[in-house]
Amino acid sequence: MLTAVNYKNIKIEQEGVTAILTLHRPDVLNALNAELKEETAKALKELNRDPNILVIIMTGSGEKAFSAGADLNELKKLTAVEGLERSLSGQKLSLQMESLDKPIIAAINGYALGGGCELALACDIRIASEKAKLGQPEVNLGIIPGFGGTQRLPRVVGKGKAMELILTGDIIDAQEALKIGLVEKVVPPEKLMETAKEMAQKIASKGPIAIRLSKKAIHEGLQMDLDRGLALESSYFGAVCSTQDKLEGISAFLEKRKPQFKGE
Ligand code: COA
Repeated sequence: MLTAVNYKNIKIEQEGVTAILTLHRPDVLNALNAELKEETAKALKELNRDPNILVIIMTGSGEKAFSAGADLNELKKLTAVEGLERSLSGQKLSLQMESLDKPIIAAINGYALGGGCELALACDIRIASEKAKLGQPEVNLGIIPGFGGTQRLPRVVGKGKAMELILTGDIIDAQEALKIGLVEKVVPPEKLMETAKEMAQKIASKGPIAIRLSKKAIHEGLQMDLDRGLALESSYFGAVCSTQDKLEGISAFLEKRKPQFKGE
C-alpha cells in the first residue's frame, strides 16, 4: 500500500498497480521549485520499494501545464555555485528516474517547457495531449538547459533538431513533437489519462523482471558502444532465463492460456 505521506507540491494516487504522480503547483503552472524536486525524489524512492506498484504515470495538475520549467523566482537569485548545485540536483533526479526499476510514463497535459520538458525526457515513454506544447526556451532568459536537456534531447530527437530547439528557444506543438520523436503518441486531452493508464496496465501485465531488465538494458546500453551494449543485453537475457516468470510465460503460450507472472 502507498504510504500516507502528505506532500505539498506533488500528489500521489494509486489505481490498481499504477501510481499517478501529479506535479501540483497549479498557480505557477507546476514550476519546479527545490521542494517539489525533493518531494518527487522521495516519492519515487517509496514507489520503487512498493511491491504493489508496477508502473508510474507522471502528469501535471490543472489543464494548462505539465510543468512550465524551473521556478524562475528561485532561479533569479542563484549564484554560480548555487546554479551548479541546482543543476546537479535536477540531474540527480533525472538519473534516479531512469534507474528506477519501474517504468515512468509522462502524460503531458499542457506546457512542458525547460525543466518540464527535461523531466518528461527523463520519463521512459511520453504521451502528449493535443494541447501540449514543448520546448527548451532557456536561451530566451539568457540561460541554458541544466536538467539534462542538452544531453537527452539530442539522444531522443537527434543533434540537428535538438540544436534547433535549444538555440531558437522555439516552442512546438504536440503534432510537431510527435513528428520529431519527442513524444510517442498524441491523443485528445480527455483521452490522455485513459491512454496512459491503458499503457501502464499493458506493461504491468507482463513479467515484472522482464520489464525491469528491458528498461535497464536500454538506459545502460545507451551509455555504451554497441559491442558492450550487446554484451550487457546477453547477460540480462541469461538472467531472465533463470526466472520462474520465463518458465511460466513460455509454458502459458504453449498451453494456450494467459500467464500468471509473479516477478520471481
Ligand atoms: N516559474 C515561476 N512562475 C511561473 C513559471 C515559472 N517557470 N511559469 C509560469 N509562472 C507563473 C507566472 O508568473 C504566472 O504567475 P502570476 O499569475 O502570479 O502572474 C502564472 O504562472 C501563470 O503564467 P502566465 O505566464 O500568466 O501564463 P500564460 O498562459 O500567459 O503563459 C507560459 C504560459 C508557459 C507560456 C509562460 O508562463 C512562460 O513562458 N513561462 C516560463 C516558461 C519558461 O521559460 N520556462 C523555462 C524556465 S528555465
